Amino acid sequence: MSALTVITTVAELRRLVDERRKRGEMIGLVPTMGALHEGHLSLVRAAYSECACVVVSVYVNPTQFAPHEDFQRYPRNLDHDLQLLKSVGDVLVFAPTDAEMYPAGFQTTVEVTKLSLGWEGELRPTHFRGVATVVTKLFTAADADFAYFGQKDYQQLRVVEQMARDLNLRTVVRACPTTREPDGLAMSSRNRYLTSEERQQGLSLSRALAIAAEMVKRGESNCAELEAAMRDVLASAGVKSDYAAVADRETLQPLTQLTRPAVALIAAKVGKTRLIDNMLLDAKQRVI
Ligand code: PAF
Repeated sequence: MSALTVITTVAELRRLVDERRKRGEMIGLVPTMGALHEGHLSLVRAAYSECACVVVSVYVNPTQFAPHEDFQRYPRNLDHDLQLLKSVGDVLVFAPTDAEMYPAGFQTTVEVTKLSLGWEGELRPTHFRGVATVVTKLFTAADADFAYFGQKDYQQLRVVEQMARDLNLRTVVRACPTTREPDGLAMSSRNRYLTSEERQQGLSLSRALAIAAEMVKRGESNCAELEAAMRDVLASAGVKSDYAAVADRETLQPLTQLTRPAVALIAAKVGKTRLIDNMLLDAKQRVI
């Protein structure tokens, strides 16, 4: 088991990170909202594979939740998070208060205009502004060389990649594969809201994506066909989809034909819980 340092202020984080950088260490950042699971730990391990100093932020960011969303009931258990992190390494844990992140008079926001518009952005119009703002603050506070994001939140990943590039931030975004339960369910802190019956229904998301990938392997390149197949799988599990679509992997614009690297995106309501998942698709995966 390793020693953990818990830091609550930006000034202290900067001081510790500066010391480590002076020793020649690379700095890796894993931004999280806590309620950690194996998916987060895989990001921390990815960070350690190239950085001697790893900062994990644990902060439930209020600005990325709409008033009707689950900010209040979002699971918070720092002690448990610390136990999990201890098993991976001597992480610097940055767990700031709201007053530290958004002091009185705070008024700056960061918005990645086009990539934030569709999909999650359509249903959650202020969400990515909150994410881009807090992630910019975390990148600059930790002065990180690399930041590690799971591919499960694919649109978020594209938004932060674009933001880091557009703002010339020193931090390079690393995309890490989605961690799945043995039965295929993408790991998410929100899975703990699911009853056992809902969890079974939730498997339809990864099943639908696997079926779309299989169709592509067999030569299907018409996105309407792929989308219809995904929607069928979700509907037969009694799951209401917000979207099940195929989009350009870079721009996230909807595609009609699989003529370029793509991503299949799904968001669906299972009971009261909204789940998202995705899978990269490429016509070159075709098996003849
Ligand atoms: O993916 C998350 O947990 C959050 O959106 C993030 C990136 C930590 C920003 O609050």
